[in-house]
Amino acid sequence: MSYKVFTKGEGLSEEDHLLMDAASKITDNAYAVYSGFNVGAAILLDDGSIVTGNNQENIAFPSSLCAERVALYYCNANFPDKEVKKIAITAKSKEVVLTGPVTPCGACRQVISEYERIQDGDIEVLLFSEDRTVYYFDSISTLLPLAFETDALKRK
Ligand code: THU
Repeated sequence: MSYKVFTKGEGLSEEDHLLMDAASKITDNAYAVYSGFNVGAAILLDDGSIVTGNNQENIAFPSSLCAERVALYYCNANFPDKEVKKIAITAKSKEVVLTGPVTPCGACRQVISEYERIQDGDIEVLLFSEDRTVYYFDSISTLLPLAFETDALKRK
């Protein structure tokens, strides 16, 4: 797997740091009362705007949704013609010590992958920890090789 590591975010652009600031800030509003594990995601759209989301849990546990999908679905619901350029993801927990960047679950990887496919453009992924250790991927395909996709399920 090929990705870059940026220690303390050194070498990343101001744009990347602003995106990470937004992801970090939105973790505070996560509704994570069952896991105590707050996740934040910030998306940069091709017009320069930033859309954020956080995990939303529910007492019926499977009804919960990850931060990445909260943000991505909001983007495609409201701005279907805008391209997603980057997504920054982070987590905070009051209960456990997080030793490095959080990595997205398989379902979120699949969803990011579909948006790459429909917009026909890569989405950069920045996974980062509180001290800004950043794992940088230039496309979700590194995190989800051979993603499920088929034209056979497409309606004309
Ligand atoms: N979670 C996310 O928001 N994103 C991920 O990629 C992994 C997990 C959330 C789901 C749940 O609310 C909490 O983290 C603990 O699993």
